[in-house]
Amino acid sequence: MAGPLLAWYGENKRTLPWRGTRDPYQVWVSEVMLQQTRVAAVIPYYQRWMEELPTVQALAETNSERLMKLWQGLGYYSRARNLQKAARTLVSDYQGRFPESLRELLKLPGVGDYTAGAIASIAFGLPVPAVDGNVLRVTARVAAVRENILDPAVRKKFQRWMEEAVSQEHPGEYNQALMDLGATVCLPNGAPDCGRCPLASICEANRLGIQDALPVRAQKPSRRTEELTVYLLLRDGKIALRRRPDQGLLAGLWEFPHVSGVLEEEEAAVPVGSWGLAPLDWRKKIEAKHIFTHVEWRMTGYLLAVKGNCADFLWADREELDRLAVPSAFAKYLAEAREILAACPERA
Ligand code: ADE
Repeated sequence: MAGPLLAWYGENKRTLPWRGTRDPYQVWVSEVMLQQTRVAAVIPYYQRWMEELPTVQALAETNSERLMKLWQGLGYYSRARNLQKAARTLVSDYQGRFPESLRELLKLPGVGDYTAGAIASIAFGLPVPAVDGNVLRVTARVAAVRENILDPAVRKKFQRWMEEAVSQEHPGEYNQALMDLGATVCLPNGAPDCGRCPLASICEANRLGIQDALPVRAQKPSRRTEELTVYLLLRDGKIALRRRPDQGLLAGLWEFPHVSGVLEEEEAAVPVGSWGLAPLDWRKKIEAKHIFTHVEWRMTGYLLAVKGNCADFLWADREELDRLAVPSAFAKYLAEAREILAACPERA
């Protein structure tokens, strides 16, 4: 399938900011950003990242606040932390350069089969596959595989097939051609555009008319719900933030103070008192929700003016609010806080 695929890619490849380079650093950062995020969403993040951290050395040396700010909104923050960990390993163990072998690449934190394959094939021209969701879908259809592609054993099988199938001469283009075909023609959710597909004549699913039913994905595990009460605490034109612990979900990011459970106004005053603060004026109630992979947060928020102090809190003005990395889960509250501080910067 390499011939028609590469010819199609030559005519139809998408123009993307990380294409036209074989710099392994640029390939690596773009691939990690693209792992759980759509291309259109990644582009501005990628461009900003490369302006601010253009080299492995720059990434290794930047501080965690800057790093988190550059990633803010992309989600799955451990990806950014792993990028930095790996950059530090590259600087300390490899003179800041990327090793040109799959085995060495796989030793870097956060680098699995897919990312190692993408770097090795695109940057170094090694004939290895890079099997992501797009590639799984295209190949499941071409070979009419009815097995569950979420099953790790089935994925291993695909990995081995692709090791055989990848173009020896143009592995980087071959892998990216499959990604583009999956993203623009061999679309998910039962909507492939087979009339435009360079592989239609060899596609077994197309021959059998079952392309809409493939690939097979078993049910995703269910998501649990957590309820939170979130506080926008206002004091002297500033708003309280606290730093999340260094481990676990959204580690090290800044958040609005919150407690678990949905508390009505009267009960909601209790945690405020336990932080050493006294409520002066309850101004607004704001509901929000955020969906992570394994958990959904249902949030009830209160905007209130307070007096007093709590050693765990940082009282942020507008500038600080913009500078610190606050996870997207709190986006609605962040927007509210910005608006409040903008409306009345001195005495909010
Ligand atoms: N998705 C993941 N990696 C990609 C790449 N290199 N080009 C386009 N889409 C992608």
